[in-house]
Amino acid sequence: MSRIRLFAAQGISTIYHVGDFGLWPGATGEYFLKTLHRACVDRDLEMFIVLGNHEDYHRAAAMQLDEQGWLCLESYPRFHFAPRGHAWIDAHGARFAALGGAGSIDRNTRRIGVDWWPQEELTQFDCDRLVANVRSQQWARVDVMLTHDAPAGLQRFGMTARPAWFTPEIEDYCAIQRTRLRHAMDEVLPRWLAHGHWHDYFRDSWDGLSASGTDYHCEVLGLAADGMRGNAVIAEVCPGFGLGEITELLP
Ligand SMILES: [Fe+2]
Repeated sequence: MSRIRLFAAQGISTIYHVGDFGLWPGATGEYFLKTLHRACVDRDLEMFIVLGNHEDYHRAAAMQLDEQGWLCLESYPRFHFAPRGHAWIDAHGARFAALGGAGSIDRNTRRIGVDWWPQEELTQFDCDRLVANVRSQQWARVDVMLTHDAPAGLQRFGMTARPAWFTPEIEDYCAIQRTRLRHAMDEVLPRWLAHGHWHDYFRDSWDGLSASGTDYHCEVLGLAADGMRGNAVIAEVCPGFGLGEITELLP
């Protein structure tokens, strides 16, 4: 919530969230939505959200699509949730694409429908839908791709200890999703990609090979988790380029 105040103080009116937003069941989840939405209304902010893995996907399934292709909760019109594979052009003409979801590495410790939902999984269907949506717009490249997970191949910090619940099956389950994401990236060729999930602020770049065999370059921004330094930045969105200078939002 403190980030909302800081964004508003900087004159920001549009916030993009890269997942593990906090869509959660019960009174606690509703209180979070209500409080955050009130803060957005008071400061005239709009939030565009890519869902992550720690989200109540039963609630997400009950959302309605608006005319612009965003998923909405009727009581919270300042929140705009991206369906997997959503592609859109922002008010400045920048081409955006979103591909949320990720595997929970601690899935073995969670209970289905209580604090884990199988719909977290980024499926091949989701990736195919993104590629189809971008191709239908006849874009040569996406300017900014927003994801929750980091595509396979990008550098990321590993776990220093391997708990018993992080079984080989779960490792495969998570890695397959990152690989699907990378293949989708190789199809839509983002100039910039911003993601969350790894609880670390991270700058990276990717020199990839497109699905049609041409080289491409993508700048990558990984954002830290809630309450951590590096979990929010201010950046200008530049059509045909991606993002301009990145400024970390400091308390
Ligand atoms: Fe996550």
